[in-house]
Amino acid sequence: MKSRTIKKAVFPVGGLGTRFLPATKAIPKEMLPVVDKPLIQYAVEEAVAAGVDMLVFITGRNKTAITDHFDKAYELEHQLELKQKDAVLEVVRNIVPSHVDCIYIRQSEALGLGHAVLCAKKAIGDEPFAVLLADDLIDGKKAPCLAQMADQFNLTGESVIAVEQVSHEMTDQYGIVEVGDEGAQTSAIKSIIEKPSPDLAPSNLGVVGRYILTPEIFTLLEKTGRGSGGEIQLTDAISDLLQQQTVNAFQFEGVRYDCGSRAGFLKANIEYAAKDDELRQLIVSYASSLVEA
Ligand code: G1P
Repeated sequence: MKSRTIKKAVFPVGGLGTRFLPATKAIPKEMLPVVDKPLIQYAVEEAVAAGVDMLVFITGRNKTAITDHFDKAYELEHQLELKQKDAVLEVVRNIVPSHVDCIYIRQSEALGLGHAVLCAKKAIGDEPFAVLLADDLIDGKKAPCLAQMADQFNLTGESVIAVEQVSHEMTDQYGIVEVGDEGAQTSAIKSIIEKPSPDLAPSNLGVVGRYILTPEIFTLLEKTGRGSGGEIQLTDAISDLLQQQTVNAFQFEGVRYDCGSRAGFLKANIEYAAKDDELRQLIVSYASSLVEA
């Protein structure tokens, strides 16, 4: 019997990061730090915590910083050893646990999220897999978001897509799903549409950047034409998948920060700093001094 456990995760990191220019002119947006850790590392840690042991990065131009980040850094480690900076040496050594493999695939043309996922086809093969978009940073509170989704997936073997309520006027920034029961944590998706204007949105349930998909998605992605924004959309292939098998929308427990927007990114930095033992007091007193000013 084929293993149904999620062991592989795809990280589409080929985007241009235009919303963060000029910061992202030479640095990938996924390397922007929230406090002291790059966004992509939070996503990788979430995947590893859910049991993933193969990370498939779909990269593009200017993304070598990501490859370097997850690679061994001999010189840095040597210098830290000499200086006996043991704590930080541990941090640098454990960015990816030793049992986890990294694969890098270059997406030669930025044709959209669906195309990026399709680039992972050979690396994934015939098994279910996860997709994580690093600019959605999710504080899963009790359990990391992907681990919550993997638990749901293990119950049925059906695809699981993370969703949350978004404000009605922002439906044109998300994939939007129509489900049988909006009040249920897990509900089968009836329809899905990429970035509809509010008047066309079937609900306010927006897709956030976490997916567990069955491998049948690849055959559908091969046939998916250009959709919203002229790009090959993962949402359109999921819409086709719905015609063949159940795909569940999953309202995870936790808070999502849209770190693809300046406001979301700043909010994440403040919230994560406030959770840090060393920074909490500084953040609280600084924030109140701003309010008083
Ligand atoms: C992508 C997806 C969209 C989803 C969003 C979540 O859009 O196409 O369906 O709601 O991620 O972050 P993007 O934000 O990359 O334009």
